[in-house]
Amino acid sequence: MFLRDARERLAPRCGAAVLALSALLLPLHASAGGGDPDNGESVVRNVCVTCHKLPDGTGNAVGPPLADTIPADGWSAEAVEENVNLPHHASAKAQVSQPDYADIAAYLNQFR
Ligand code: HEC
Repeated sequence: MFLRDARERLAPRCGAAVLALSALLLPLHASAGGGDPDNGESVVRNVCVTCHKLPDGTGNAVGPPLADTIPADGWSAEAVEENVNLPHHASAKAQVSQPDYADIAAYLNQFR
């Protein structure tokens, strides 16, 4: 009897604890998937400015200004990678390593 009472009393609190924990973990998860914008910036400044302008005016207008290319819901690592895999990006692709794509997305998404 005591145990059942305890379970009935604890169960709702347990649910609340799980909710509170997910609220804490969700932002962590989002930033983990979001990449490192500082590394993204250094890759973009080293590689992409040969052909793209940044909002501060750095770069060349061979392709569109990068801030104008951001989809409404932001770049994902996968979408940046697909883009850099296109033939006109062959020279850029050679200088980017796979983990950089999430970082490039995180950097560019700051200009949304
Ligand atoms: C050698 C020149 C060159 C370099 C280096 C370069 N790009 Fe581009 N990029 C282009 C050109 C040209 C276009 C336009 C292609 C078109 O409109 O068909 C373009 C287009 C884009 C677009 C627009 C795609 C769209 O859907 O509108 C994105 C995003 C992009 N580049 C990202 C990058 C990133 C990130 C890098 C660095 C890793 C990079 N580019 C390096 C030439 C370059």
